[in-house]
Amino acid sequence: MHSFSIILLPLLSLLPSTISQTSGTFNAMTFNVAGLPAILNDNGVPGDKTANTARIGQLFTQYNISLIQVQEDFNYHATLYANDKHPYRTATSGGVPFGSGLNTLSNYEFTDFARVKWNTCSNIDSADCLTPKGFTFMRVKFAEGVSIDAYNLHADAGTTAADTTARASNLRQVSDYITAHSINNSVLVFGDSNSRYTRTGDIPSIFSTANGMKDAWLELVRGGVAPQAGTDALLCDNPSPNTTCETVDKMWYRGSSAVELQAQKFQYAGNMFLQENGDVLSDHDPVLVDFAWTKV
Ligand SMILES: *[C@@H]1O[C@H](CO)[C@@H](O)[C@H](O)[C@H]1NC(C)=O
Ligand SMILES: *[C@@H]1O[C@H](CO)[C@@H](O)[C@H](O)[C@H]1NC(C)=O
Ligand SMILES: *[C@@H]1O[C@H](CO)[C@@H](O)[C@H](O)[C@H]1NC(C)=O
Repeated sequence: MHSFSIILLPLLSLLPSTISQTSGTFNAMTFNVAGLPAILNDNGVPGDKTANTARIGQLFTQYNISLIQVQEDFNYHATLYANDKHPYRTATSGGVPFGSGLNTLSNYEFTDFARVKWNTCSNIDSADCLTPKGFTFMRVKFAEGVSIDAYNLHADAGTTAADTTARASNLRQVSDYITAHSINNSVLVFGDSNSRYTRTGDIPSIFSTANGMKDAWLELVRGGVAPQAGTDALLCDNPSPNTTCETVDKMWYRGSSAVELQAQKFQYAGNMFLQENGDVLSDHDPVLVDFAWTKV
């Protein structure tokens, strides 16, 4: 009896790591954390930016979100990381005017991390050339043989013609990069696209038409049908009480012949990220999507 448990229990504990996982779930969040220096931009968010950022970091850990990609993680970055406990995180590229504000916090290890600057920016509206925005690439390993290419982007803001042109160029640049670097791979694109389906000249559908991806919001909330360009903006409150409205923060995905990927739930998660008094922590409502994967 004694020897049985001594021999068998250690063997049993080896099983999960020796048999490779064939399916799993994870959730993914894109969140513009409004980390421009308060003196430049208070983002219209009440409260102290350092205290708000600390709370965002604590909530990232408390909710244990699998993969988080943030934008505008500039001058409060140290506070964010001091309060978050995700085991795998990107090193900051700096505050304004040096960094891109793009970072990733993950429960899963990643490789091949790259930061890419936009070829085009516009200063006419929103001072987009003030700091080198762009996108990031990484290959996230969810299990043995299950890697997904994850992109994080922050496109040009503003509504002048120059901004619209720059923003479309930004999304096209990411799309081209996916075509070149993610051949046959599963892909996730997160980000503050500053784009709306309703706005003429914006091209949020490029990841669908050029890269075979789905927008999780279109798929799960709108039955796959995009709002018409040129129609009224479907503006959201922050936090949004429903998912029928459109934000510029989006998540696109595709599976591959090796890994099936399916979005299962789409949420605007702003009500999970509030100050103690109920005020918002950012002027953006984070987007949270649950995914399931299956090894083919
Ligand atoms: C957090 O999530 C990861 C998967 O993303 C899981 O492996 C881990 O057990 C979770 N930790 C807690 C404390 O729930
Ligand atoms: C992509 O998949 C196709 C079809 O399975 C295959 O012919 C091609 O070699 C693959 N390309 C790469 C770069 O893996
Ligand atoms: C969804 O919420 C927005 C405000 O964020 C509101 O304007 C809209 O009417 C709501 N839609 C539905 C269907 O309840």
